[in-house]
Amino acid sequence: MKDIVAIYPGSFDPVTNGHLDLIHRGSKLFDRLIVAIARNLDKDEALFDMEERKDMLEAMTSELDNVTVDIFEGLLVAYCIQKNANAVLRGIRAVSDYEFELQMALMNRKMEPRVETVFMMPAEKYSYLSSRIVREIAKFGGPLTGLVPELVEERVRHKVAEKHSFATRTHLL
Ligand code: PNS
Repeated sequence: MKDIVAIYPGSFDPVTNGHLDLIHRGSKLFDRLIVAIARNLDKDEALFDMEERKDMLEAMTSELDNVTVDIFEGLLVAYCIQKNANAVLRGIRAVSDYEFELQMALMNRKMEPRVETVFMMPAEKYSYLSSRIVREIAKFGGPLTGLVPELVEERVRHKVAEKHSFATRTHLL
C-alpha cells in the first residue's frame, strides 16, 4: 500500500487545543502529516508572524515523529503536489463550518483531482474553539485556560501586552 502524506493547512494564529487534538488524530491515521501554515493574506488582523506560529506548533508537536511543520504560500493544491501529498486534512467543528469547507474541498478537487480532502472532528469540548476567539478573549484579558497550551497562553499574553504598549506609545507621539 502506498504511503499517505497529508497536509493539515491553516492560519494557526495561534495554534489551539482543537488544532492539536486534530493533529494527534491525523498523526495516527496518516503515514506523514505536514502542518502547513498559510502565509497570511489579511495581515492586519494577525497576532503572530509566521515564524512565531511555526515555533509554537513545533514546540507542541515535537513528540510526534511523523509530524512536521512548514509555511506555504499560494495555492494549497500546488503545495500538496510539491510535497507529494495525497490528502488534505481539515477539521469540522459544527454544521456552520460545513458550507465553507465543502466549497473549499470541491474547488480544490476541481483544481487538483489527485488530492483528496479528509474531514475529522475534534473532541466535542473544542467544538466552540477557534483562533479568532482566542485572540479576542486575550485582547480583553479573559481566561485562556483549556483553550490553548500553557506555552501558547504565555506567548499570547506577552504579544497582546506588547501590542497594547506599542499602540499606547504611538498614540502619545
Ligand atoms: O485556518 P483557516 O484560516 O481556516 O485556513 C484556511 C486555509 C489557509 C486552509 C485556506 O485559506 C487556504 O487553503 N489558503 C491557501 C490558498 C488557496 O489554496 N485558496 C483556495 C482554496 S479553494
